[in-house]
Amino acid sequence: MTKSGGGKPAPGGSRARGSGATASGVGRKAAIRTAGAYAAQAKTFVRHWGRRSDRQPRLLRDSLRICRRDAVVLDLGSGAGQDIRSLRRKRYRVVGLDLTWPLLAYARRRSRRARLVQGDMRSLPFRSGVFDGVWAAASLIHLPKPAVRTTLRDLHGLVPPGGVLAATFVQGRNSGFLRAGWIPGRFFSRWRKAELEGAVRQAGWAIISLKTVANRERKGRWLNLLARRPAR
Ligand SMILES: C[S@@+](CC[C@H](N)C(=O)[O-])C[C@H]1O[C@@H](n2cnc3c(N)ncnc32)[C@H](O)[C@@H]1O
Repeated sequence: MTKSGGGKPAPGGSRARGSGATASGVGRKAAIRTAGAYAAQAKTFVRHWGRRSDRQPRLLRDSLRICRRDAVVLDLGSGAGQDIRSLRRKRYRVVGLDLTWPLLAYARRRSRRARLVQGDMRSLPFRSGVFDGVWAAASLIHLPKPAVRTTLRDLHGLVPPGGVLAATFVQGRNSGFLRAGWIPGRFFSRWRKAELEGAVRQAGWAIISLKTVANRERKGRWLNLLARRPAR
């Protein structure tokens, strides 16, 4: 596992290549508190999500259909690593990035050879154009909107023209920290569809589809985004 930025070093990993920039203050509190909440409840999270290595979210399938067969995919906020495992089984080359150490450690136990990076989405430690696609399932939801806007721009730089972004967002109006319910203490940003559409376009992406879906796995209304970096 590779470590990006400060904190505990990763066992058996080399340093991430790239800028190594420290994440800016924008969204710092949300990132730290959210990762802390996941770390405190890692066992609960893993019990619920970690064992589902056979799930095939439709959005992920749609995005892979427009990627090369041997595409290099960034799983942004990879959690317990279930999508890393299913992508690896299909022969995609995957890099998982997550801020929560115990979730990465679980992903490592389940997939010894996966490429895993502990890092913050707000400060991506990769060279431009290294990924063919980005898969961000329920991860950008944890950044405040200004940080999402910046991260969308950074992700645009990580793929070549034609590169793909598939991401899920929570639809709604009020953003803030969860005070009760499943894994409280996490930050959630909630978007109106037109607002998200504007943010994605402003970051340079061409939207292929942006759909409101009622997710069977995750409660509430979600916005499923499939976008592409325009060809030059
Ligand atoms: C709801 S889980 C989704 C995990 C996985 N993508 C899935 O679909 O099961 C959100 C993930 O985002 C990660 N995360 C939250 N904030 C982050 C940040 N600032 N940088 C990197 N990862 C972050 C959490 O640690 C957690 O693993």
